[in-house]
Amino acid sequence: MSEWHYPEVGGTQDVFFDRATARFLPTIVAGEGVYLIDDRGRRLLDVCSGPFLAALGQGNERVLQAMVEQGRKLTYTYSRTTRHPANAALAERIASLAGAGFERVHLTSGGSEAVEMALKFLRAHAVASGQGQRNRVISMMPGYHGATLQTLGLNGDVLAPALWSSMTVYSEKIPAPLTFRAPSPESAASASLTALEETIQRIGPEQVLAFVMEPIGGQSSGVNVPHPSFASGARSICDRYGIRLVFDESVSAFRTGRFLAAHHAPDALPDVAVLAKGLAAGYAPLAAALVPAALVEELSATTGFVVSHSYDASPIACAAGAAVLDEIVERDLIANAERVGAELRAGLEVIAENSPLIGDVRGRGLLLAIELVSDRTTLARFPAEVDPGSVVLRHGLDHGLLLYSRRQNRGRFGDWLLIAPPLVIDAEVCGDLLGRLESTLASAANELVRSHTSNGTDPL
Ligand SMILES: Cc1ncc(COP(=O)(O)O)c(C=O)c1O
Repeated sequence: MSEWHYPEVGGTQDVFFDRATARFLPTIVAGEGVYLIDDRGRRLLDVCSGPFLAALGQGNERVLQAMVEQGRKLTYTYSRTTRHPANAALAERIASLAGAGFERVHLTSGGSEAVEMALKFLRAHAVASGQGQRNRVISMMPGYHGATLQTLGLNGDVLAPALWSSMTVYSEKIPAPLTFRAPSPESAASASLTALEETIQRIGPEQVLAFVMEPIGGQSSGVNVPHPSFASGARSICDRYGIRLVFDESVSAFRTGRFLAAHHAPDALPDVAVLAKGLAAGYAPLAAALVPAALVEELSATTGFVVSHSYDASPIACAAGAAVLDEIVERDLIANAERVGAELRAGLEVIAENSPLIGDVRGRGLLLAIELVSDRTTLARFPAEVDPGSVVLRHGLDHGLLLYSRRQNRGRFGDWLLIAPPLVIDAEVCGDLLGRLESTLASAANELVRSHTSNGTDPL
């Protein structure tokens, strides 16, 4: 482990973290394809593409070149006072890939901003169309939508109110249709839909603006894949009450074998889809809210929607996004995600058979997770004081893996490792990943078995 200390002044982002977390962070000094190189010369396979983000890996020449060329031609112009061709080119590219219902593309810098933009846009549309009473939002517990003050209130995080208090507005939460430990995926979906409808009735249907959900979960649910009846049920409930359905696809876009995870269920498309992370794949801060042309035109005929951040649709970010999409399309990376992801998942299932730590393997394409349990027979979670993911992460570094784990709310919903490598990964590197992961889990299991005691109870 690198020696960690507080510098006199400045320091990296982790000087803000708690010391226990900061202590084990590797110092990354270079990147090569799907590997990150640390200051000790270790080549670490980037198992979750950072936070589901670095879809093309490091140093993609085509993307870097596109950014340099754009920067030379036009570095920056403000999207509120001007327009520029790189914005038009990227919006056309995204809208064509997203298909009918997503003709307009509002570009901004990150997932939290894009989720907020989507809600601000829908609110502005509601006000302009005489539905100003619609200001309530429903989302899921657990769930994640960002770290701005407003998205913190959307997140399904039971501890958020104690920390953020009245600094944010909290959405109403319904239980996410978590499949693991549920009697069946269908019953989980059905219970969540019942809660959605009851919540709408309790608030008053005419007050509700939107229901925001991750169609396939990310870090907050350990890639929960709801039963298909959930999306179709949510679509019909929203339609019944004139409520907008928003899919936060910050994580799921590009990864599940379709451009949008929403495309797995064409009859249950949302009104708005949010893209982030993989869109510029780490080359530039970029995210998008995809909305139907009809809504934009209705609004532009009245008040319009002129809410902007200075970096919205910035030329270099647009050039990066367009080049990333060119790579995704020309290298057929969405199909690669489906194909290689299926092999990776099969390999994870084999590892799971022999690992005392794995209770579940789930996900779709190259968006996968394994749930860590303290007892495979009872599926018991780890007790609040043991964070198994952080132990596995530490062992991963010794086996050449940079892993990403999550335990939200001290393990209340579970512990998981998120397995979402860059979309450019091939079967050979996946094989290497699996071998390293198996050794990592074996050595982590030794440590955890020595240190934990199973609580065996359901903390929910
Ligand atoms: C589903 C989802 N939505 C929104 C966000 C927020 O994106 P950003 O970190 O780019 O603001 C994240 C980030 O992890 C996410 O996973």
